[in-house]
Amino acid sequence: MPHDAPLRPLRAGAPAAPLSGTHRVPGDKSISHRALMFGALAIGTTEIEGLLEGEDVLRTAAAMRALGARVDQRGPGSWSVAGRGIGGLVEPADILDMGNSGTAARLLCGLLAGHPIFSVMTGDASLRRRPMLRVTGPLSATGASFWTREGGRLPLAVRGAIDPLPLDYRLPVASAQVKSACLLAGLCARGTTRVVEPEPTRDHTENMLRHFGATVRVEDTGEGRVIELEGQPELRAAPILVPGDPSSAAFPLVAALLVPGSHLTLANIGLNPLRTGLFATLREMGAELRVENARVEGGEPVGDLVVTHGPLHAVEVPPERAPSMIDEYPILAVAAAAAEGITRMRGLAELRVKESDRLAATAALLAANGIEARIEGDDLLVQGTGGAIPGGGTVATHMDHRLAMSALVMGLAARNPVAVDDAGFIETSFPGFAALMNRAAGGEAIVAA
Ligand code: S3P
Repeated sequence: MPHDAPLRPLRAGAPAAPLSGTHRVPGDKSISHRALMFGALAIGTTEIEGLLEGEDVLRTAAAMRALGARVDQRGPGSWSVAGRGIGGLVEPADILDMGNSGTAARLLCGLLAGHPIFSVMTGDASLRRRPMLRVTGPLSATGASFWTREGGRLPLAVRGAIDPLPLDYRLPVASAQVKSACLLAGLCARGTTRVVEPEPTRDHTENMLRHFGATVRVEDTGEGRVIELEGQPELRAAPILVPGDPSSAAFPLVAALLVPGSHLTLANIGLNPLRTGLFATLREMGAELRVENARVEGGEPVGDLVVTHGPLHAVEVPPERAPSMIDEYPILAVAAAAAEGITRMRGLAELRVKESDRLAATAALLAANGIEARIEGDDLLVQGTGGAIPGGGTVATHMDHRLAMSALVMGLAARNPVAVDDAGFIETSFPGFAALMNRAAGGEAIVAA
Protein backbone atom coordinates (compact mmCIF):
# COMPACT_ATOMS: atom_id res chain seq x y z
CA MET A 1 0.00 0.00 0.00
CA PRO A 2 1.27 3.46 -0.71
CA HIS A 3 1.43 5.14 2.69
CA ASP A 4 -1.34 7.59 1.83
CA ALA A 5 -3.71 5.24 -0.10
CA PRO A 6 -7.43 6.00 0.32
CA LEU A 7 -9.41 3.69 2.62
CA ARG A 8 -11.24 0.78 0.96
CA PRO A 9 -14.31 -0.10 3.04
CA LEU A 10 -15.96 -3.46 2.23
CA ARG A 11 -19.03 -5.29 3.52
CA ALA A 12 -19.79 -9.01 3.62
CA GLY A 13 -23.23 -10.55 3.95
CA ALA A 14 -24.77 -14.00 3.74
CA PRO A 15 -24.11 -15.48 0.28
CA ALA A 16 -27.03 -16.47 -1.97
CA ALA A 17 -25.64 -20.02 -2.18
CA PRO A 18 -23.31 -22.22 -0.11
CA LEU A 19 -19.59 -22.01 -0.88
CA SER A 20 -18.48 -24.60 -3.41
CA GLY A 21 -15.94 -25.51 -6.08
CA THR A 22 -12.18 -25.94 -6.25
CA HIS A 23 -10.04 -22.87 -5.66
CA ARG A 24 -6.37 -21.90 -5.40
CA VAL A 25 -5.11 -19.33 -2.95
CA PRO A 26 -1.97 -17.25 -3.69
CA GLY A 27 1.53 -18.55 -2.93
CA ASP A 28 2.98 -18.86 0.55
CA LYS A 29 4.18 -15.51 1.87
CA SER A 30 6.98 -16.87 4.08
CA ILE A 31 8.40 -19.04 1.31
CA SER A 32 8.06 -16.25 -1.28
CA HIS A 33 10.14 -13.77 0.76
CA ARG A 34 12.81 -16.37 1.36
CA ALA A 35 12.93 -17.50 -2.28
CA LEU A 36 13.74 -13.94 -3.38
CA MET A 37 16.32 -13.39 -0.64
CA PHE A 38 18.14 -16.71 -1.07
CA GLY A 39 17.96 -16.28 -4.84
CA ALA A 40 19.75 -12.93 -4.42
CA LEU A 41 22.49 -14.60 -2.32
CA ALA A 42 23.02 -17.59 -4.60
CA ILE A 43 25.33 -18.02 -7.55
CA GLY A 44 23.30 -18.42 -10.74
CA THR A 45 19.66 -17.81 -11.63
CA THR A 46 16.88 -19.07 -9.37
CA GLU A 47 13.58 -19.75 -11.11
CA ILE A 48 10.51 -19.34 -8.87
CA GLU A 49 7.03 -20.59 -9.71
CA GLY A 50 3.91 -19.63 -7.73
CA LEU A 51 5.46 -16.57 -6.06
CA LEU A 52 2.98 -14.53 -4.03
CA GLU A 53 2.59 -11.25 -5.89
CA GLY A 54 1.25 -9.46 -2.83
CA GLU A 55 2.59 -6.11 -1.70
CA ASP A 56 4.71 -7.52 1.13
CA VAL A 57 6.64 -9.80 -1.22
CA LEU A 58 6.93 -7.11 -3.91
CA ARG A 59 8.70 -4.99 -1.27
CA THR A 60 11.26 -7.76 -0.82
CA ALA A 61 11.68 -8.02 -4.61
CA ALA A 62 12.31 -4.27 -4.79
CA ALA A 63 14.82 -4.44 -1.92
CA MET A 64 16.74 -7.27 -3.61
CA ARG A 65 16.94 -5.17 -6.78
CA ALA A 66 18.14 -2.17 -4.75
CA LEU A 67 20.88 -4.42 -3.31
CA GLY A 68 22.09 -5.37 -6.79
CA ALA A 69 20.29 -8.62 -7.64
CA ARG A 70 18.47 -8.90 -10.94
CA VAL A 71 14.82 -9.79 -10.26
CA ASP A 72 12.46 -10.31 -13.21
CA GLN A 73 8.85 -11.29 -13.54
CA ARG A 74 8.53 -13.74 -16.43
CA GLY A 75 4.77 -14.34 -16.17
CA PRO A 76 2.07 -14.56 -13.51
CA GLY A 77 3.76 -16.05 -10.40
CA SER A 78 6.81 -16.90 -12.46
CA TRP A 79 9.95 -15.00 -11.43
CA SER A 80 13.72 -15.26 -11.80
CA VAL A 81 16.47 -13.95 -9.56
CA ALA A 82 20.07 -13.66 -10.74
CA GLY A 83 22.02 -13.75 -7.48
CA ARG A 84 25.25 -12.02 -6.45
CA GLY A 85 26.64 -14.72 -4.14
CA ILE A 86 27.11 -14.58 -0.37
CA GLY A 87 28.62 -11.25 0.63
CA GLY A 88 28.00 -9.83 -2.85
CA LEU A 89 25.17 -7.38 -2.16
CA VAL A 90 25.92 -3.72 -2.94
CA GLU A 91 25.04 -0.56 -1.07
CA PRO A 92 21.51 0.62 -1.94
CA ALA A 93 21.26 4.14 -3.37
CA ASP A 94 18.09 4.97 -1.45
CA ILE A 95 16.03 4.06 1.62
CA LEU A 96 14.62 0.51 1.63
CA ASP A 97 10.86 0.76 2.26
CA MET A 98 9.44 -2.53 3.50
CA GLY A 99 5.84 -1.29 3.57
CA ASN A 100 3.66 -3.37 5.93
CA SER A 101 5.96 -6.41 6.09
CA GLY A 102 7.59 -7.43 9.36
CA THR A 103 9.05 -10.54 7.75
CA ALA A 104 10.71 -8.55 4.97
CA ALA A 105 12.13 -6.00 7.42
CA ARG A 106 13.43 -8.48 10.00
CA LEU A 107 14.94 -10.97 7.56
CA LEU A 108 16.55 -8.11 5.67
CA CYS A 109 18.22 -6.92 8.91
CA GLY A 110 19.96 -10.32 9.06
CA LEU A 111 21.06 -10.12 5.48
CA LEU A 112 22.36 -6.55 5.85
CA ALA A 113 24.19 -7.34 9.11
CA GLY A 114 26.45 -9.68 7.13
CA HIS A 115 27.36 -7.22 4.36
CA PRO A 116 29.80 -4.32 4.92
CA ILE A 117 27.46 -1.72 3.47
CA PHE A 118 25.33 1.12 4.84
CA SER A 119 21.55 1.09 4.45
CA VAL A 120 18.46 2.74 5.86
CA MET A 121 15.15 0.93 6.23
CA THR A 122 11.63 2.15 6.90
CA GLY A 123 8.05 0.94 6.59
CA ASP A 124 4.43 2.07 6.85
CA ALA A 125 2.83 3.36 10.07
CA SER A 126 2.04 -0.20 11.22
CA LEU A 127 5.58 -1.51 10.65
CA ARG A 128 7.12 1.61 12.22
CA ARG A 129 5.31 0.72 15.46
CA ARG A 130 6.65 -2.85 15.59
CA PRO A 131 9.66 -3.92 17.70
CA MET A 132 12.93 -4.41 15.80
CA LEU A 133 15.18 -4.76 18.84
CA ARG A 134 14.42 -8.48 18.80
CA VAL A 135 16.61 -8.69 15.67
CA THR A 136 18.94 -5.69 15.99
CA GLY A 137 19.90 -6.85 19.53
CA PRO A 138 21.25 -10.30 18.63
CA LEU A 139 22.54 -9.18 15.22
CA SER A 140 24.76 -6.53 16.84
CA ALA A 141 26.91 -9.38 18.18
CA THR A 142 28.01 -10.09 14.58
CA GLY A 143 29.83 -6.74 14.61
CA ALA A 144 27.12 -4.90 12.66
CA SER A 145 25.98 -1.48 13.94
CA PHE A 146 22.30 -0.54 14.07
CA TRP A 147 20.74 2.83 14.86
CA THR A 148 17.00 2.80 15.49
CA ARG A 149 14.32 5.17 16.59
CA GLU A 150 13.29 5.21 20.27
CA GLY A 151 12.12 1.76 21.43
CA GLY A 152 14.00 0.02 18.63
CA ARG A 153 11.52 1.13 15.97
CA LEU A 154 11.94 1.88 12.26
CA PRO A 155 13.32 3.80 10.49
CA LEU A 156 16.69 2.24 11.23
CA ALA A 157 20.15 2.54 9.78
CA VAL A 158 22.62 -0.31 9.63
CA ARG A 159 26.28 -0.67 8.79
CA GLY A 160 26.98 -4.35 8.30
CA ALA A 161 30.06 -6.10 9.69
CA ILE A 162 33.23 -6.31 7.58
CA ASP A 163 34.09 -9.73 8.98
CA PRO A 164 30.87 -10.89 10.70
CA LEU A 165 31.13 -13.13 13.75
CA PRO A 166 28.91 -16.21 13.98
CA LEU A 167 26.09 -15.92 16.53
CA ASP A 168 25.25 -18.31 19.35
CA TYR A 169 21.78 -17.14 20.36
CA ARG A 170 18.88 -18.51 22.35
CA LEU A 171 15.62 -16.93 21.20
CA PRO A 172 13.68 -15.36 24.11
CA VAL A 173 10.44 -15.72 22.09
CA ALA A 174 9.43 -18.33 19.53
CA SER A 175 9.91 -16.34 16.31
CA ALA A 176 10.78 -17.67 12.88
CA GLN A 177 11.65 -14.14 11.82
CA VAL A 178 14.30 -13.72 14.51
CA LYS A 179 15.68 -17.23 13.88
CA SER A 180 15.85 -16.51 10.15
CA ALA A 181 17.55 -13.13 10.64
CA CYS A 182 20.29 -14.83 12.70
CA LEU A 183 20.74 -17.56 10.09
CA LEU A 184 20.88 -15.05 7.23
CA ALA A 185 23.64 -13.14 9.03
CA GLY A 186 25.36 -16.49 9.70
CA LEU A 187 25.64 -17.13 5.96
CA CYS A 188 28.25 -14.37 5.77
CA ALA A 189 30.11 -15.33 8.96
CA ARG A 190 33.10 -17.62 9.27
CA GLY A 191 32.33 -20.62 11.51
CA THR A 192 29.13 -22.10 12.88
CA THR A 193 26.05 -20.02 13.72
CA ARG A 194 23.93 -21.60 16.45
CA VAL A 195 20.34 -20.66 17.24
CA VAL A 196 18.20 -22.30 19.93
CA GLU A 197 14.43 -21.91 19.83
CA PRO A 198 12.24 -22.57 22.88
CA GLU A 199 9.48 -24.02 20.65
CA PRO A 200 9.95 -25.10 17.03
CA THR A 201 8.83 -22.40 14.58
CA ARG A 202 8.29 -22.57 10.81
CA ASP A 203 11.42 -24.04 9.24
CA HIS A 204 11.23 -22.72 5.67
CA THR A 205 14.59 -20.97 6.09
CA GLU A 206 16.34 -24.18 7.14
CA ASN A 207 14.65 -26.17 4.33
CA MET A 208 15.54 -23.61 1.68
CA LEU A 209 19.13 -23.21 2.90
CA ARG A 210 19.63 -26.95 2.43
CA HIS A 211 17.90 -26.78 -0.96
CA PHE A 212 20.51 -24.17 -2.02
CA GLY A 213 23.39 -26.33 -0.77
CA ALA A 214 24.14 -25.04 2.76
CA THR A 215 24.87 -27.38 5.67
CA VAL A 216 22.21 -27.05 8.38
CA ARG A 217 21.94 -29.35 11.39
CA VAL A 218 18.77 -29.47 13.50
CA GLU A 219 18.50 -31.30 16.81
CA ASP A 220 15.82 -31.39 19.50
CA THR A 221 17.52 -31.19 22.89
CA GLY A 222 16.57 -30.54 26.51
CA GLU A 223 17.18 -26.81 25.96
CA GLY A 224 14.96 -26.64 22.85
CA ARG A 225 15.47 -27.02 19.12
CA VAL A 226 19.09 -26.33 18.18
CA ILE A 227 19.86 -25.16 14.63
CA GLU A 228 23.44 -24.94 13.39
CA LEU A 229 24.53 -23.42 10.10
CA GLU A 230 28.02 -23.67 8.62
CA GLY A 231 29.01 -20.16 7.54
CA GLN A 232 30.13 -18.94 4.11
CA PRO A 233 28.69 -21.80 2.05
CA GLU A 234 28.46 -21.41 -1.68
CA LEU A 235 24.73 -21.11 -2.25
CA ARG A 236 23.81 -22.42 -5.69
CA ALA A 237 20.66 -21.26 -7.50
CA ALA A 238 17.89 -23.85 -7.27
CA PRO A 239 14.32 -23.91 -8.61
CA ILE A 240 11.55 -23.07 -6.12
CA LEU A 241 7.94 -24.15 -6.34
CA VAL A 242 5.87 -22.07 -3.91
CA PRO A 243 2.78 -23.88 -2.55
CA GLY A 244 -0.50 -22.14 -1.72
CA ASP A 245 -0.32 -20.32 1.62
CA PRO A 246 -2.02 -22.27 4.44
CA SER A 247 -2.48 -18.98 6.31
CA SER A 248 -4.49 -17.64 3.35
CA ALA A 249 -6.36 -20.93 2.83
CA ALA A 250 -7.59 -20.51 6.42
CA PHE A 251 -10.09 -17.81 5.35
CA PRO A 252 -12.13 -19.64 2.68
CA LEU A 253 -11.77 -22.79 4.77
CA VAL A 254 -13.39 -21.29 7.88
CA ALA A 255 -16.01 -19.59 5.68
CA ALA A 256 -16.97 -23.01 4.28
CA LEU A 257 -17.16 -24.49 7.79
CA LEU A 258 -19.56 -21.73 8.88
CA VAL A 259 -21.82 -21.17 5.84
CA PRO A 260 -24.50 -23.91 5.82
CA GLY A 261 -24.34 -26.40 2.96
CA SER A 262 -20.80 -25.47 1.87
CA HIS A 263 -18.35 -27.97 0.42
CA LEU A 264 -15.08 -26.58 -0.87
CA THR A 265 -11.69 -27.78 -2.13
CA LEU A 266 -8.58 -25.63 -1.73
CA ALA A 267 -5.97 -27.07 -4.07
CA ASN A 268 -2.19 -27.18 -3.65
CA ILE A 269 -1.86 -25.89 -0.09
CA GLY A 270 1.43 -26.03 1.83
CA LEU A 271 1.09 -28.46 4.76
CA ASN A 272 4.41 -28.01 6.57
CA PRO A 273 3.61 -29.40 10.05
CA LEU A 274 4.98 -26.22 11.63
CA ARG A 275 2.19 -24.28 9.87
CA THR A 276 -0.86 -26.48 10.36
CA GLY A 277 -1.88 -25.82 13.97
CA LEU A 278 -5.17 -24.26 12.83
CA PHE A 279 -6.17 -27.36 10.87
CA ALA A 280 -5.48 -29.58 13.91
CA THR A 281 -7.48 -27.23 16.12
CA LEU A 282 -10.46 -27.11 13.75
CA ARG A 283 -10.49 -30.92 13.58
CA GLU A 284 -10.55 -31.02 17.40
CA MET A 285 -13.55 -28.68 17.20
CA GLY A 286 -15.33 -31.24 15.04
CA ALA A 287 -14.57 -29.85 11.57
CA GLU A 288 -14.82 -32.16 8.60
CA LEU A 289 -11.48 -31.37 6.98
CA ARG A 290 -9.63 -33.85 4.76
CA VAL A 291 -6.34 -33.77 2.87
CA GLU A 292 -6.30 -35.29 -0.63
CA ASN A 293 -3.38 -35.80 -3.02
CA ALA A 294 -0.81 -35.45 -0.24
CA ARG A 295 2.62 -35.10 -1.85
CA VAL A 296 6.02 -33.42 -1.41
CA GLU A 297 6.87 -30.60 -3.83
CA GLY A 298 10.06 -28.58 -3.72
CA GLY A 299 10.90 -30.05 -0.31
CA GLU A 300 7.60 -28.97 1.32
CA PRO A 301 4.55 -31.19 2.01
CA VAL A 302 1.55 -30.12 -0.09
CA GLY A 303 -2.03 -31.33 -0.49
CA ASP A 304 -5.60 -30.38 -1.37
CA LEU A 305 -7.83 -29.41 1.56
CA VAL A 306 -11.43 -30.58 1.33
CA VAL A 307 -13.82 -28.98 3.81
CA THR A 308 -17.53 -29.46 4.50
CA HIS A 309 -19.83 -27.29 6.61
CA GLY A 310 -20.77 -28.72 10.00
CA PRO A 311 -21.24 -27.82 13.67
CA LEU A 312 -18.21 -26.92 15.78
CA HIS A 313 -17.63 -27.15 19.52
CA ALA A 314 -15.32 -25.17 21.77
CA VAL A 315 -11.81 -26.36 22.69
CA GLU A 316 -8.84 -25.16 24.69
CA VAL A 317 -5.88 -24.35 22.43
CA PRO A 318 -2.58 -25.01 24.26
CA PRO A 319 0.12 -22.30 24.29
CA GLU A 320 2.75 -24.57 22.73
CA ARG A 321 0.65 -24.75 19.59
CA ALA A 322 0.88 -20.99 19.02
CA PRO A 323 3.98 -20.96 16.77
CA SER A 324 2.32 -23.37 14.31
CA MET A 325 -0.76 -21.14 13.95
CA ILE A 326 0.48 -17.73 15.04
CA ASP A 327 -1.23 -15.87 12.17
CA GLU A 328 -4.47 -17.85 12.43
CA TYR A 329 -5.92 -16.71 15.78
CA PRO A 330 -8.21 -13.98 14.36
CA ILE A 331 -9.86 -16.43 11.97
CA LEU A 332 -9.95 -19.15 14.64
CA ALA A 333 -11.75 -16.64 16.87
CA VAL A 334 -14.39 -16.28 14.13
CA ALA A 335 -14.82 -20.07 14.02
CA ALA A 336 -15.01 -20.09 17.84
CA ALA A 337 -17.80 -17.47 17.70
CA ALA A 338 -20.01 -20.00 15.92
CA ALA A 339 -18.93 -22.99 18.02
CA GLU A 340 -20.84 -24.40 20.99
CA GLY A 341 -19.21 -23.33 24.27
CA ILE A 342 -16.26 -21.21 25.42
CA THR A 343 -13.03 -21.54 23.43
CA ARG A 344 -9.89 -20.56 25.30
CA MET A 345 -6.78 -19.77 23.26
CA ARG A 346 -3.76 -19.73 25.53
CA GLY A 347 -0.38 -17.99 25.33
CA LEU A 348 -1.06 -15.25 22.75
CA ALA A 349 1.38 -12.55 23.95
CA GLU A 350 3.05 -12.39 20.53
CA LEU A 351 -0.23 -11.31 18.91
CA ARG A 352 0.24 -7.92 20.53
CA VAL A 353 3.15 -7.11 18.19
CA LYS A 354 1.77 -8.22 14.84
CA GLU A 355 0.58 -5.85 12.08
CA SER A 356 -1.75 -4.53 14.80
CA ASP A 357 -2.30 -5.49 18.45
CA ARG A 358 -4.17 -8.54 17.20
CA LEU A 359 -5.19 -9.70 20.65
CA ALA A 360 -7.10 -6.51 21.44
CA ALA A 361 -8.30 -6.06 17.84
CA THR A 362 -9.65 -9.62 17.60
CA ALA A 363 -11.58 -9.19 20.85
CA ALA A 364 -12.96 -5.88 19.51
CA LEU A 365 -13.91 -7.52 16.18
CA LEU A 366 -15.98 -10.09 18.06
CA ALA A 367 -17.55 -7.59 20.45
CA ALA A 368 -18.59 -5.31 17.55
CA ASN A 369 -20.56 -8.24 16.15
CA GLY A 370 -22.42 -9.40 19.23
CA ILE A 371 -19.97 -12.06 20.44
CA GLU A 372 -18.75 -12.07 24.01
CA ALA A 373 -14.97 -12.22 24.22
CA ARG A 374 -12.46 -11.36 26.88
CA ILE A 375 -8.72 -11.26 27.37
CA GLU A 376 -7.33 -12.87 30.53
CA GLY A 377 -3.57 -12.31 30.76
CA ASP A 378 -2.27 -13.63 27.44
CA ASP A 379 -5.36 -15.76 26.77
CA LEU A 380 -8.37 -15.01 24.58
CA LEU A 381 -11.75 -16.45 25.58
CA VAL A 382 -14.63 -16.57 23.11
CA GLN A 383 -18.21 -17.43 24.04
CA GLY A 384 -19.57 -19.25 21.00
CA THR A 385 -23.23 -19.13 20.04
CA GLY A 386 -23.37 -22.73 18.84
CA GLY A 387 -25.03 -21.39 15.70
CA ALA A 388 -25.55 -18.03 14.03
CA ILE A 389 -23.36 -15.02 14.75
CA PRO A 390 -25.34 -11.76 15.22
CA GLY A 391 -22.98 -9.57 13.09
CA GLY A 392 -24.02 -6.05 12.07
CA GLY A 393 -20.81 -4.36 13.22
CA THR A 394 -18.14 -2.26 11.54
CA VAL A 395 -14.64 -3.50 12.28
CA ALA A 396 -11.55 -1.30 12.58
CA THR A 397 -8.78 -3.18 10.77
CA HIS A 398 -5.77 -1.13 12.00
CA MET A 399 -3.73 -1.69 8.78
CA ASP A 400 -3.96 -5.45 9.39
CA HIS A 401 -4.85 -7.73 6.46
CA ARG A 402 -5.77 -10.72 8.60
CA LEU A 403 -8.23 -8.74 10.71
CA ALA A 404 -9.91 -7.48 7.54
CA MET A 405 -10.27 -10.97 6.07
CA SER A 406 -11.44 -12.46 9.37
CA ALA A 407 -14.16 -9.82 9.73
CA LEU A 408 -15.36 -10.37 6.15
CA VAL A 409 -15.52 -14.15 6.66
CA MET A 410 -17.57 -13.49 9.77
CA GLY A 411 -19.97 -11.41 7.68
CA LEU A 412 -20.58 -14.33 5.30
CA ALA A 413 -21.77 -16.42 8.25
CA ALA A 414 -23.58 -13.74 10.27
CA ARG A 415 -27.28 -12.80 10.49
CA ASN A 416 -26.41 -9.19 9.62
CA PRO A 417 -23.65 -7.97 7.28
CA VAL A 418 -20.24 -7.09 8.70
CA ALA A 419 -18.30 -4.07 7.38
CA VAL A 420 -14.59 -3.26 7.57
CA ASP A 421 -13.25 0.29 7.55
CA ASP A 422 -10.37 -0.60 5.21
CA ALA A 423 -9.73 -3.75 3.21
CA GLY A 424 -6.79 -2.27 1.28
CA PHE A 425 -4.18 -4.14 3.31
CA ILE A 426 -5.56 -7.50 2.13
CA GLU A 427 -3.35 -6.85 -0.92
CA THR A 428 -0.26 -7.44 1.23
CA SER A 429 -0.90 -11.19 1.43
CA PHE A 430 -4.02 -12.25 -0.50
CA PRO A 431 -4.58 -10.33 -3.75
CA GLY A 432 -7.96 -11.34 -5.17
CA PHE A 433 -9.42 -12.37 -1.80
CA ALA A 434 -12.90 -10.84 -2.33
CA ALA A 435 -13.07 -12.12 -5.92
CA LEU A 436 -12.20 -15.67 -4.81
CA MET A 437 -14.79 -15.62 -2.03
CA ASN A 438 -17.44 -14.29 -4.41
CA ARG A 439 -16.60 -16.98 -6.98
CA ALA A 440 -16.92 -19.64 -4.28
CA ALA A 441 -20.25 -18.10 -3.21
CA GLY A 442 -21.52 -17.83 -6.79
CA GLY A 443 -22.40 -14.13 -6.33
CA GLU A 444 -21.54 -10.80 -4.78
CA ALA A 445 -21.31 -11.65 -1.08
CA ILE A 446 -18.40 -9.23 -0.46
CA VAL A 447 -19.01 -5.76 -1.88
CA ALA A 448 -17.83 -2.17 -1.52
CA ALA A 449 -19.37 -0.58 1.58
C1 S3P B 1 6.85 -15.34 9.66
C2 S3P B 1 6.92 -15.56 11.01
C3 S3P B 1 5.87 -15.17 11.96
C4 S3P B 1 4.56 -14.83 11.25
C5 S3P B 1 4.77 -14.01 10.02
C6 S3P B 1 5.66 -14.73 9.03
C7 S3P B 1 7.98 -15.77 8.81
O1 S3P B 1 6.30 -14.02 12.66
O2 S3P B 1 3.68 -14.16 12.12
O3 S3P B 1 3.54 -13.73 9.38
O4 S3P B 1 7.82 -15.82 7.57
O5 S3P B 1 9.05 -16.08 9.35
P1 S3P B 1 7.17 -14.15 14.04
O6 S3P B 1 8.50 -14.67 13.69
O7 S3P B 1 7.24 -12.73 14.55
O8 S3P B 1 6.37 -15.05 14.94
